[in-house]
Amino acid sequence: MGVFEAIKTRRSIRRYKEDLIDEETLRKVLEAARLAPSAANRQPWRFIVVTDPIVKRSLRKAYDKEWFTSAPVIVVACAVPEEAWVRRDGEEYWKVDVSIAMQNLVLAAWDEGLGTCWIGAFDENEAKQALGVPPNVRIVAMTPLGYPAETKGPVSNRKPLSEIVHYNHW
Ligand SMILES: Cc1cc2nc3c(=O)[nH]c(=O)nc-3n(C[C@H](O)[C@H](O)[C@H](O)COP(=O)(O)O)c2cc1C
Repeated sequence: MGVFEAIKTRRSIRRYKEDLIDEETLRKVLEAARLAPSAANRQPWRFIVVTDPIVKRSLRKAYDKEWFTSAPVIVVACAVPEEAWVRRDGEEYWKVDVSIAMQNLVLAAWDEGLGTCWIGAFDENEAKQALGVPPNVRIVAMTPLGYPAETKGPVSNRKPLSEIVHYNHW
């Protein structure tokens, strides 16, 4: 699958099969995150791969949806802000860096036939507690990772280019 095809057909998946993900496939998906660009190449990301049913269950305190824990894997994307680049005006880039890595992971997963659903509406304190994440580390996003048990058409409900692109001036 080409990159554009993956971008066009990827959808958020909220129903998963129980089928396990083999180690090579999981590694490839994580490798896609590792290869992402980051500001000043600081790579301020860490990923927690959750497969233990007990840990998964405790993550439900952070995001209580049955489908969230039904996939064989949950990937938790974290940032170490002190490692990240900061712009001269103080703007911090860790969230951008980790999000780019996560999107690489999402698209590589789709290319492998795996579904994901970016989760942003979680309780960060509960998630940190469930995973033993240290105080200086932030959780940016989480996603279930597994083979889809639902099929969805390609992305369609997006604003047209005419509404979102400006040429030369706003
Ligand atoms: C930053 C971000 C946060 C999101 N948070 C959630 C979430 O907490 N729960 C959820 O079910 N979906 C979440 N989503 C998925 C969006 O709802 C979904 O991407 C959007 O509706 C477009 O649908 P599609 O991904 O199938 O194209 C999130 C997506 C993004 C990019």
